[in-house]
Amino acid sequence: MRKTILVTGGAGYIGSHVTLALLERGHTVVVIDDLSAGRRDIVDSRATFVEGSTGDGQAVRQTLEDHDVGSIMHFAGSIVVSESVTDPLKYYDNNIGASLVLLREAVAAGVRHFVFSSSAAVYGRPAATPVCESDPCLPINPYGWSKLMLEQMLADIAAIDDLNVAALRYFNVAGADPEGRSGQCSRISTHLIKIGVEAALGKRPAVEIFGSDYPTSDGTAVRDYVHVTDLAEAHVLALGWLMDNPTQGLTLNCGYGRGYSVIEVLDAIDRVCGSRIERRLSPRRAGDPDSLVAAPGEIMRLLGWQPRYAEIDTLVADAARWERTL
Ligand code: UFG
Repeated sequence: MRKTILVTGGAGYIGSHVTLALLERGHTVVVIDDLSAGRRDIVDSRATFVEGSTGDGQAVRQTLEDHDVGSIMHFAGSIVVSESVTDPLKYYDNNIGASLVLLREAVAAGVRHFVFSSSAAVYGRPAATPVCESDPCLPINPYGWSKLMLEQMLADIAAIDDLNVAALRYFNVAGADPEGRSGQCSRISTHLIKIGVEAALGKRPAVEIFGSDYPTSDGTAVRDYVHVTDLAEAHVLALGWLMDNPTQGLTLNCGYGRGYSVIEVLDAIDRVCGSRIERRLSPRRAGDPDSLVAAPGEIMRLLGWQPRYAEIDTLVADAARWERTL
């Protein structure tokens, strides 16, 4: 059996953490990343690194062949929801076009297992939370559509080919490797915990709270924040499950099932960092749902996923430790 795992986007935030988790389990990993958003230095040196794009068929073909790849974990793509609204072509190019090239090569090379980084954005504005995997999917931005379209494409391909697929729908991924080997280093910050930690460390003057009139306990939007290291572990488990169940697929939420409001998150950051972040009330951000919390039962039951870093203070402390190193 071919053992090498190809991690696309392995120089990015989530991909680099999954690479660490796979290496720790003794897997052989090759990373492909074009470094358009990722950083070479957060790729663990035990992984082979190929600089290239998943949209470059020749580079993908060569990598699959050279490394005898049996499984792919696919993270490469564009991830800023608001940017997807202003530049949808970029999102369909990077998230659909490039993925199609990757899939064509994967099927031709006989790759067996495929784990895909999907998103809670496929649910759009859910009628109720917590959200189950079987709830209706109706994205409200091109980013969410690109994830849902790829889920559908993968399901169609899996139905006729030897590929089996796990789509993991992430809720709000945050935090950093507890050992300080990787973390979030996007050039432009948009995620609440990163922005809040930057403010706590004096890298920005204040945090804008986008919307304080939501129908939630304190009027600010509620999200299910998942530690990136727990998320990485879910990927290792999902791949193991695919290997044990080669004719089946998975679609699973990755969240803890516990929501925090924007104010609760900022309070946690102040508590952990000893800061007093200046908070500015601003209008709602376009396209934001009021509350998005996972029903996490399925991933726990099927994969035996047991989060280790679910405390919001732990998540914030790890994010802050990483932020200090940047
Ligand atoms: N927020 C602020 N101020 C900020 C940044 C964010 O108030 O400066 C608020 C947002 O309005 C939102 C919450 O904090 O209510 C979380 O926002 P993030 O930008 O951190 O995350 P999102 O919930 O918008 O997006 C996340 C992932 C996406 C995924 C989406 C699913 O980052 O990849 O969840 O809805 F698609």
